[in-house]
Amino acid sequence: MDQKDLTTLKNWFAGYCLSFSMPGQEDQRNITIKKDHTYHVCLNALRIARDLNLGKRELLLAETIALLHDVGRFAQYQQYKTFDDGLSTNHAALGVKVLLEKAVLRELPDHEQKLILRAVTLHNVFTLPAELDAATRLFANLVRDADKLDIWRVLIEYYGQDQGSRATAVGLGLPDAPEYSPKVLASLRGGNMARKADLETLNDFKLLQLTWIYDLNFAGSVRMVVERGYIDKIVDTLPKNDEIRQAVEVVRAHVNGKLQAR
Ligand SMILES: [Fe+2]
Repeated sequence: MDQKDLTTLKNWFAGYCLSFSMPGQEDQRNITIKKDHTYHVCLNALRIARDLNLGKRELLLAETIALLHDVGRFAQYQQYKTFDDGLSTNHAALGVKVLLEKAVLRELPDHEQKLILRAVTLHNVFTLPAELDAATRLFANLVRDADKLDIWRVLIEYYGQDQGSRATAVGLGLPDAPEYSPKVLASLRGGNMARKADLETLNDFKLLQLTWIYDLNFAGSVRMVVERGYIDKIVDTLPKNDEIRQAVEVVRAHVNGKLQAR
């Protein structure tokens, strides 16, 4: 693929987003948030890819995968009015279906089409399958990091807003209560990713987002977390107590380890 192909895809995406304009303010806010998210993920993906010294074509592929990774969100929201895959449908699979039905990738060589669709499919799985070819693994890892880096931005903005101005679908409908689940906190303390199925409150969701740091694939991504102050910004919105502080220390130590490993 070349720059012209990417421009064509960007134009397609912009038109596709526009076709989901919704009359209600709340609905439009939820749609806009996913459109803006996509453009931020593109920038994150490019930055990670440059940090890895990838070539020109790889940069184009990384940006394309970022551009298309959440295409399924629009149809998902239109049909189900939620971004919770558990309550609706797998938005990655839905995105691939849209891309195929609309033959969005038709101008690209087969192997690039395959790679893009595979990376979109894998962008939201809990863990990548063990057997993947090197290119698929690289681009899936890349979009997964770029995506997480921007979800932190979206959620931190969300936490900072009063209930009335929040894009409602972002918080997955979880109650903004003072409680949190021991199971989710244990994941943060244990250095592993928490599971969506265990979420009961918005605090659980914040703790889960901190556990995503354990899943980052590139040192460049970890550096972006630090530069943007994501850990502190999330911790600021959590209850202040020793057990949370201790668990957060584990993720901070993990980050320091990753930065020193370079
Ligand atoms: Fe997604």
